Amino acid sequence: MHTTFLLNGRQVTADTSPTTTLLDWLREDQHLTGTKEGCNEGDCGACSVIVTDDSGARALNACILFLPQIEGKAIRTVEGIAAADGTLHPIQKAMVKHHGSQCGFCTPGFITTMACAHLNGATDHDTQLAGNLCRCTGYAPIIRAAKEAETAPIPDHMHDARFLLTKNTTGHAPQERGAEPPTTPDALATWLDQNPDGTLIAGATDVGLWVTKQFRELGPVAFLNRIPDLAGVTITDTEIRIGATTTLSALHSAIATHYPAFAELIRRYGSVQVRNAATIGGNIANGSPIGDGSPALIALGASLHLRSVDGARSLPLEDFFVDYGKQDRAKNEFVEAITIPRAGDHLRCYKLSKRFDQDISAVCGCFWIEVADGVVTAARLAFGGMAGTPKRAAGAEAALVGNPWSETTVAAAMTALSQDFTPLSDMRASASYRMEAAQNMLLRAWLEDQGQMIDVLQVTA
Ligand SMILES: Cc1cc2nc3c(=O)[nH]c(=O)nc-3n(C[C@H](O)[C@H](O)[C@H](O)COP(=O)(O)OP(=O)(O)OC[C@H]3O[C@@H](n4cnc5c(N)ncnc54)[C@H](O)[C@@H]3O)c2cc1C
Ligand code: FES
Ligand code: FES
Repeated sequence: MHTTFLLNGRQVTADTSPTTTLLDWLREDQHLTGTKEGCNEGDCGACSVIVTDDSGARALNACILFLPQIEGKAIRTVEGIAAADGTLHPIQKAMVKHHGSQCGFCTPGFITTMACAHLNGATDHDTQLAGNLCRCTGYAPIIRAAKEAETAPIPDHMHDARFLLTKNTTGHAPQERGAEPPTTPDALATWLDQNPDGTLIAGATDVGLWVTKQFRELGPVAFLNRIPDLAGVTITDTEIRIGATTTLSALHSAIATHYPAFAELIRRYGSVQVRNAATIGGNIANGSPIGDGSPALIALGASLHLRSVDGARSLPLEDFFVDYGKQDRAKNEFVEAITIPRAGDHLRCYKLSKRFDQDISAVCGCFWIEVADGVVTAARLAFGGMAGTPKRAAGAEAALVGNPWSETTVAAAMTALSQDFTPLSDMRASASYRMEAAQNMLLRAWLEDQGQMIDVLQVTA
């Protein structure tokens, strides 16, 4: 399979299997070993690169980025951050000045992530760097360096967007075994019908690990990044439609003013690099009981839209999750979009994980509670991590609706919750901890509604 893209300002074509990662190709084929392999699963940021396309520049983890995902884009690795004459980037100068590196293993990943944030004018450094792990320096000198470089001009060579390739200049679309990759939803439906055991690849933040950690041979694959009609968010007076391949970063920007609680939940989702790759369609389709997107979307009353050669169908998102590992999706169906009805904002989201940033939820609770004249008129309480699927708490909802929005009612709903779920114990949390945490999330929602804000962000750099 051929993939053509810009690498540090130079057009290159890679001829690889479709599941060769950018990291392996950079290190093994190009001998560009500045990009490091730490975890090889998207967790440490040592492999961060800058990827630029029409939508802008993003930091991504090269270890779980397959080459066909970067067709026609511009890649900048740590080797391309200093100018051609060796002049250091302002971020590099600041890192030297503030002693932002000790053993140096993590440093190339920090430099590329920081240079990308600098390029985008992003100054929320804690958030920008949550996906880059450093064992020895400590973060204070690194954040100091990022702050110092904030106002430095962007070096000219960093503006990759000016040089983006078009399909015409690459001369060919990436091809595998002579087959045209699908570029429309209809073509994808046909492809999936002909390859019922084929693998769809969206952001590859799950599928990437099947290759790098489980060494799976995937067989036929279709990359969804080639299908523009599956991406993007459309907002009307009555609904918000989210295309399946909308990344979590794009979703965050689109919904931040409409549902701030959902946006804050997304900010806690993986890291900048993960959110820049992961799609909401992939987050739902993987059926994970601990995915963060589904509890929020279920609480928002979202519908899921599936498509195949047989046509399109829609269902309430909560009905999609049948059982652990089992979803209501035929082999030839794919997720096309998610829609949210617009009806004000009554959403609260709580994510509990062992680490505040870059961690999977032990419990995620998302609540839509409407109150009129002191009485609960509607409640959708959706949890992740409490069952084999993302699931609504029917008993707790019944205990709320029609009753005064009071501590007594909330206590009754907390008791009912213990009948709604029988959570599991695993490495993230014990069953009893999960239950108590879920119950306390309900209490927290009530307390916050009474004006008692509970801020867990007490420690910032
Ligand atoms: C370091 C790290 C941190 C993470 N942190 C979080 C977190 O905090 N919260 C969280 O919820 N998740 C987290 N994840 C999990 C992951 O990011 C999500 O599950 C992600 O949303 C999957 O989307 P994707 O586009 O990357 O899917 P892919 O990996 O491309 O695909 C995942 C699955 O969905 C299928 N698929 C993808 N798109 C479609 C479609 N349109 N129709 C049908 N099937 C489809 C694929 O075939 C595959 O089976 C993390 C992952 C990593 C690596
Ligand atoms: S090597 Fe750790 S995120 Fe890629
Ligand atoms: S400097 Fe050693 S891991 Fe960061």
